[in-house]
Amino acid sequence: MSFFDLIRRRRSVRTFAECPLKPDDARQILEYSASVHNPYAIPIVWKLLDAKEYGLNSPVILGSDLYIAGKMSRVPHAEEAFGYAFEMIVLFAESLGVGTTWIAGTMNRSAFEKVLELSEGEVMPCVSPLGYPAKKMSLRESMMRKGIKADSRFRFEDLFFAGSFETPLSEAAAGNLRDALEAVRLAPSAVNKQPWRILVDQDSVHFYKYCNRGFISDAGWDIQKIDMGIALCHFELVASESGVAVSHVIKTDAPPAPEGMQYIASYSTKSNA
Ligand SMILES: Cc1cc2nc3c(=O)[nH]c(=O)nc-3n(C[C@H](O)[C@H](O)[C@H](O)COP(=O)(O)O)c2cc1C
Repeated sequence: MSFFDLIRRRRSVRTFAECPLKPDDARQILEYSASVHNPYAIPIVWKLLDAKEYGLNSPVILGSDLYIAGKMSRVPHAEEAFGYAFEMIVLFAESLGVGTTWIAGTMNRSAFEKVLELSEGEVMPCVSPLGYPAKKMSLRESMMRKGIKADSRFRFEDLFFAGSFETPLSEAAAGNLRDALEAVRLAPSAVNKQPWRILVDQDSVHFYKYCNRGFISDAGWDIQKIDMGIALCHFELVASESGVAVSHVIKTDAPPAPEGMQYIASYSTKSNA
């Protein structure tokens, strides 16, 4: 199955079948996690955690007792790096039929952080349950999905622009970047805010964050930059599948961000076609 197919198929799973993860699936996920890179080359340590053993829980998750969590140094671009790498793991789990949900808020965080033995200067951005999706969602899960409109996304033209932020980019005009941009559009984000805005400009694709209120901690930690890392991941994976060679770069001369937006990173594009 292609990455684009996995991205189209994935959804957050909060109700799990009451059967434990097969040891072989757990092993594969942990091995894959250890091999995942990110464009910022920031190391991340991944662990599988037994919820019963350590008293871990998330009030939104039913039926899974296994979590994956990662810890890293709190350095510049940690959020984007984590978003990129964790999404690679989420998509790998999806390829095995294992369900996940990104969780940054709804968990007993201090218990998770204690098991991970976070030291000074380290952060555990998010965790995810791992398990097989139940045949039917719990009422709580379907109510939650409705509440945050989890099944809807902004339109292509609301998110992507050609040459300047004055000119929306249509699917039809996106050419060989169409699937890669669609993969960004479908990405998961905190509270489904979809903060990514993209400017396609000659041989560059510039990523900006639309800054919603309430996502940056007093210490400057920005959850929406994790969303941006997920967007970078989807774009890079599906651009490559579409035969477009892309390379990640942080530009000093990217077009200035409009008010309320922040420049994050760019991809240089060069069509192989
Ligand atoms: C960085 C991040 C943090 C998230 N935190 C939570 C969370 O704390 N609790 C939760 O239930 N879902 C959380 N989500 C899942 C989003 O609500 C979900 O991805 C979004 O509503 C879209 O739904 P979908 O994943 O089913 O496509 C988070 C997602 C991301 C990307």
